[in-house]
Amino acid sequence: MGHVRHLYVHIPFCAHRCGYCDFVTVTGHEDRHAAYVDAVLRELQGRGEVLGEVETVYLGGGTPSRLGADLLGRLLDALPQASLETTVECNPEGVDEALAAALGARGVRVSLGAQTFAQPLLDTLERETTPTQVRTAVALLRAAHVPSLSLDLIYGIPGERESDLGRDLATLEELAPDHVSAYELEAKPGTRFAVHHGARLEEQAELLERHMDLVIDSLAYSGYDWYEIASFARAPEHQGRHNRAYWEGRDYLGLGVGAVGTVEGLRRVNGPKLAAYLEDPLTAPAATEEITERTRQEERLMLGLRLADGVAIDEIEPVLDRRALERLVGLELARVEDGRIRLARRGRMLLHDCVAELIHDEPA
Ligand SMILES: C[S@@+](CC[C@H](N)C(=O)[O-])C[C@H]1O[C@@H](n2cnc3c(N)ncnc32)[C@H](O)[C@@H]1O
Ligand code: SF4
Repeated sequence: MGHVRHLYVHIPFCAHRCGYCDFVTVTGHEDRHAAYVDAVLRELQGRGEVLGEVETVYLGGGTPSRLGADLLGRLLDALPQASLETTVECNPEGVDEALAAALGARGVRVSLGAQTFAQPLLDTLERETTPTQVRTAVALLRAAHVPSLSLDLIYGIPGERESDLGRDLATLEELAPDHVSAYELEAKPGTRFAVHHGARLEEQAELLERHMDLVIDSLAYSGYDWYEIASFARAPEHQGRHNRAYWEGRDYLGLGVGAVGTVEGLRRVNGPKLAAYLEDPLTAPAATEEITERTRQEERLMLGLRLADGVAIDEIEPVLDRRALERLVGLELARVEDGRIRLARRGRMLLHDCVAELIHDEPA
């Protein structure tokens, strides 16, 4: 029995590829869903000895809901049962009564990709979902008693006005999910979206700050706690525990094509090719990288500062630039309390700059 308490499983299948997305996905191949589930279980058998008592399982994608109720149920039943939380990412158009029932019966937390409720903005994102489908999915999942429901929102979409975002936030308040993940739209290099809209996104940096302010204020007003840079929970028990484990730098095992995992200082990234994975998930190409102590501490700083709780100084002392910390405290971007560094609101909005300041140059 090993010590790893967190398991990520990547399900790459999507109905179509949204222009802004750079995750490992495949379209088509509906006839290979069952073979994929078998392959994941074979990989688990071959690599799962590192797992201890599993606390969280996260099925991400891609679109896990595309497996459908039966296959998804088979996979969930065959994976180690998580003591704290099992999450499945779903696309709204894939949620029907059978799928909702399969998830509800197994006590699964659902993360649903809503993104926006404005049809023209969904079109810009090349989403194949309508706002009505999002509402229907929420109603079906609620009726099936899933224990926790999270909605993903994207803001900063080209053409989005503050009034559009205000309407999205009002709709969220009405739907009252237990958790919200609100992401600023990123033009990921190499995506169709970056080619068509990349320059426009760069021009609207100031607007994005206003949008982020609006998101934070509105969700706080609706009673959500802003516990991580892009995450808001209605109550502590609705925080994403799997993601928190990642932000806290805990080891996790990643299974599936393109899956990433880190165990005892070794990071493994499975190759993205479906055919090779299906042939033999244990010999399919994968890249591995040793995470040095310095890299681990830099990542702790970078990920820990995403959290409202911040990061303990003694965990990152060797990479911390103390003078930079004093400067950030003087500028009221950061605070030091109980031996932890926490970013203030403005500091969190400038997260990347603050992290870059706080990491001192490697000694010669
Ligand atoms: C990889 S998706 C998987 C979930 C599901 N397939 C979906 O599309 O909703 C996870 C989440 O990442 C976010 N995301 C993906 N690409 C993004 C981008 N370029 N910028 C900001 N957020 C993005 C979306 O909010 C999405 O719901
Ligand atoms: S955003 Fe979601 S549905 Fe769209 S391609 Fe990416 S993973 Fe698939």
